[in-house]
Amino acid sequence: MSLKKGAEVSLTIEGAAFKGKGVGKIDGLAIFVPGTMPGDIVKARIIKRKKNYREAKLLEIEQPSPDRIDPICQHAKVCGGCSWQHVPYEKQLQFKTQQVTDHIRRIGGLETPVLPALGSESSLYYRNKMEYSVSTKRWLTEEEIHSDEYVDDSGFAAGLHAPGRFDKILNLKECHLQRKESFEILDFVRNYCVKNGLEAYNTFEKTGYLRHVMIRTSYHTEDFMVNLVTFKDEPDTISKLSDTLLKEFPVITTIVNNVNDQISPTAVGRFENVIHGPGFIRDQIGEFEFKIHPNAFFQTNTAQAEKLYEVARNYADLKDGDIVYDLYCGVGTLSLFMSQKASKVLGIELVDVAVENAKFNASENKVENVSFIKGDMKDVFTQEMVNEFGAPDVLITDPPRAGMHPDVVARLCELKVPRMVYVSCDSSTMARDLKILSEVYDVIEVQPVDMFPQTYHVEAVAKLRLKQ
Ligand SMILES: C[S@@+](CC[C@H](N)C(=O)[O-])C[C@H]1O[C@@H](n2cnc3c(N)ncnc32)[C@H](O)[C@@H]1O
Repeated sequence: MSLKKGAEVSLTIEGAAFKGKGVGKIDGLAIFVPGTMPGDIVKARIIKRKKNYREAKLLEIEQPSPDRIDPICQHAKVCGGCSWQHVPYEKQLQFKTQQVTDHIRRIGGLETPVLPALGSESSLYYRNKMEYSVSTKRWLTEEEIHSDEYVDDSGFAAGLHAPGRFDKILNLKECHLQRKESFEILDFVRNYCVKNGLEAYNTFEKTGYLRHVMIRTSYHTEDFMVNLVTFKDEPDTISKLSDTLLKEFPVITTIVNNVNDQISPTAVGRFENVIHGPGFIRDQIGEFEFKIHPNAFFQTNTAQAEKLYEVARNYADLKDGDIVYDLYCGVGTLSLFMSQKASKVLGIELVDVAVENAKFNASENKVENVSFIKGDMKDVFTQEMVNEFGAPDVLITDPPRAGMHPDVVARLCELKVPRMVYVSCDSSTMARDLKILSEVYDVIEVQPVDMFPQTYHVEAVAKLRLKQ
């Protein structure tokens, strides 16, 4: 069979692979097909030819997997938000566990036990933050593209970016990632703008008014924030819109207006106006309370973040008086989590605002034994720093997706920390780093934690102990 680009093939999907794509084999060659799941028999077209595999576009599901379910959302096929809605949640967890196990075995070369992924108590409506975008350019549906009629893609679209497109917005008619008022507010704002002549921002012409609608909700309190991100600072316009919103949605406790009059497409404004309420929401992770401002980082699935940090704290096996290092500490949540038994905790982080937030969070929670250092890990995490702060009894590392810089991994091997915990949002780079660390440390156990149901993403926590 020809497996050239453009060839149409029929195959059985046998596994769930990288980025949630289904994978099957033809004559021993792996074919990756997005939008499928194990057990599906599909027709697909080869779109990319690589030496050892092919990538294909799904044309038709000839026979669905007996496990396949109907997605709850009409946008599931096109929207980048939930690529696994056709997979039952129990199966999603199995695939995630398998993915982490494969990485640990194949990339890490380790036989370490991998426990079943810890599932989220709700597999929908679990996000505490949604950042919807607004644009004059609407993403067309397959039917519209193939229709004989002329379809106008301009207007006022509010929703999520079409996968891989910075300029086109999928005009959402429903969304199940955040509690139901979240989508209702987006829909209301869209209708209000159209009715009152408030234009969507036009990325190319740099005109229009509304750019994003960000909604932050709290898991532990009743706080509810709407952040309207606009291109222009128009006090009258925003106050009329806010008054109407408050009347319609009494659940809202604060409204903020970020004004982003710059080209960059972010929801972070050059300045911010607090229109109603305190300008932040309060939430809790474990025993700590956080004041969350519109653009502060906060874990998006609060309940699962608590589980993740609990696993990390158990693996750390803290003893009274421990010196703890928290590498890549972000806003210091893990540092706080580790602070109670420790004599002192040092968090290290690259981003300025994150370090400011971390200091703020520590002082708000009256935690005095944590300190934070700003800098690039490979430059600031030195022997001199360790001499100054004291050798760590426990070290937590939670690097970004790319994993740790090789110099940092080498330093950890030299440092010989008695107890170490590796938290990761990409088990393939974690496995790469663990392979090197395993020369000096035993990798005892790995626990995957599912923070993002309906997606292929999974966090994993590894417990390491210095070899005897
Ligand atoms: C996965 S997040 C960790 C979040 C944090 N542990 C938490 O639970 O909230 C990774 C963090 O590493 C930081 N980071 C990325 N590159 C870095 C570097 N080279 N040096 C230090 N920190 C870095 C990022 O800014 C980010 O806050």
